[in-house]
Amino acid sequence: MFRDRIFEGRTAVITGGGTGLGRAFALRFSELGAKVVLASRSLEHLEPTAAEIRARGGVATVAPTDVRVPEQVEALMKTAYETCGSIDLLINNAAGNFLCRAEKLSYNGWKTVVDIVLNGSFFCCRAAFPYMARQKFGRILSILATYASGASPGTIHSAAAKAGVQAMTRTLAVEWAEHNIRANAIAPGSFPTQGASSRLWVGSAEEAGARVRERVPVGRHGRHEELADLAAYLCSSYADYVNGETVTIDGAATWNHPSFEWQKL
Ligand code: COA
Repeated sequence: MFRDRIFEGRTAVITGGGTGLGRAFALRFSELGAKVVLASRSLEHLEPTAAEIRARGGVATVAPTDVRVPEQVEALMKTAYETCGSIDLLINNAAGNFLCRAEKLSYNGWKTVVDIVLNGSFFCCRAAFPYMARQKFGRILSILATYASGASPGTIHSAAAKAGVQAMTRTLAVEWAEHNIRANAIAPGSFPTQGASSRLWVGSAEEAGARVRERVPVGRHGRHEELADLAAYLCSSYADYVNGETVTIDGAATWNHPSFEWQKL
């Protein structure tokens, strides 16, 4: 689908890059030639993915980072620049999530998720900016969720934070266009990961997964590679004129609100 190694010479910083969707982005971007810098709080989440990438001939650096702490985010970007020589692509993928009714959510529960998702994404963009502006090139991609643009009870903290990241994306797209920095977002629907199934699904993964799948008109969950390819497209030169957008990838689940019993027709 893509020219060979479209990211040759580029460096991609991927937060939450060791596991789940972050791992899928890291593997795909590395296959496409990027040097990847994987950030997350725990080294044990990062090392296996970095080792996998190196075993395939790629270049991977790990940088233990809590995106809630600006000094750590600054240190992440410094490490990325000093190790790889540039910071070209940034994927804001780190997330914090759990299901909770709004009236039961503690103040600190709200703050923790907003800190990781919204503040963490801004800190990463803000800290990457000097490098991207200096090289007159940057592509920022933030990972949202389809539930952030609708109402999905139980995810008030995460939905509000991700909607904030969407507003941030649009604003950065306008402000930083003059620096040749683009900012886009992806809103994935159902792409099962261990983190999502343990935090967001109720009951056995098999049963909950089947219930989620039932709502997807194309009849299946998304595949990680499909998401990673969309991310690669949005960070590539093919998408140079796409800026400030959120692309939904959910098999039309978002639009699946039948008003009538049309299936009985
Ligand atoms: N239900 C209700 N409240 C919860 C909760 C749950 N399942 N899990 C955590 N909280 C609350 C805690 O009680 C705490 O609030 P309190 O101080 O008022 O008690 C607050 O959230 C912070 O929790 P804590 O465990 O101290 O934070 P942490 O920084 O160690 O962990 C989380 C952050 C909670 C987001 C944790 O789930 C995490 O580390 N997630 C990272 C991975 C992730 O969520 N990925 C998304 C996959 S979809």
